[in-house]
Amino acid sequence: MERLDKILVSQNIGSRKEVQKIIKRGEVCVNGEICKKIDTKIDVNTDKIAVNGQAIKYKKNIYIMMNKPAGVISASNDKYDKTVIDLIPEEYKRKGLFPAGRLDKDTEGLLIITDDGNFAHKMLSPKKHIEKKYIAKLDKSIDDDTVKKFEDGIIFADGTKCMPAKLEVLPDSDNKKGIVTICEGKFHQVKKMFICCGINVVHLKRISIGNLYLDSKLPIGCCKLLTNYEKELIFIGNIH
Ligand code: URA
Repeated sequence: MERLDKILVSQNIGSRKEVQKIIKRGEVCVNGEICKKIDTKIDVNTDKIAVNGQAIKYKKNIYIMMNKPAGVISASNDKYDKTVIDLIPEEYKRKGLFPAGRLDKDTEGLLIITDDGNFAHKMLSPKKHIEKKYIAKLDKSIDDDTVKKFEDGIIFADGTKCMPAKLEVLPDSDNKKGIVTICEGKFHQVKKMFICCGINVVHLKRISIGNLYLDSKLPIGCCKLLTNYEKELIFIGNIH
């Protein structure tokens, strides 16, 4: 059993405050009766909810886009550090949430948090080769040789071979800023690829996964729910 207001937020009807107003205004029916009590306990399997006459099709899972700040770790819990789960607003919190993929503690940007294991598996499967784009600020300039090495596939010191990656130099950056596109997710991959070229990453931000881009209006440290369309964008155009 779950609170009515929490269910409506989880179904993307509005923020906690907005749905509480909607309920209090008498715009929500539970099993055909107007229900103005925000904390009414609902059984999602049997109770029928409607908002302004529109039946709510309950969706089991939640998909959150976070603009991850530096300084928090991509884990569900940690003894010492603040985790991305700690940053999730109350209205989106539920059991079983985890980050689908990891960003380093000092990396910012697009992170998907969900309670849907199958979805995460599909998104993270190395076989899918889903592209991820990062903006990297560097301590040295990118030259043609670096771009070529990325294109050919960097080989780490331990012999691990990376798949070919794209490196585009950003204008007006003294060649010290680039967009890196990789389609795998090895540990510290982008930083290690640059280190193999004698360059250190001083700032890293993920801006996309597949065709889903970080919402430019989403402040650092904030979250929003993904629409079905945004969720699909992760896989659209992926041929594997
Ligand atoms: N590559 C890295 O080096 N760090 C990240 O957080 C993501 C990709």
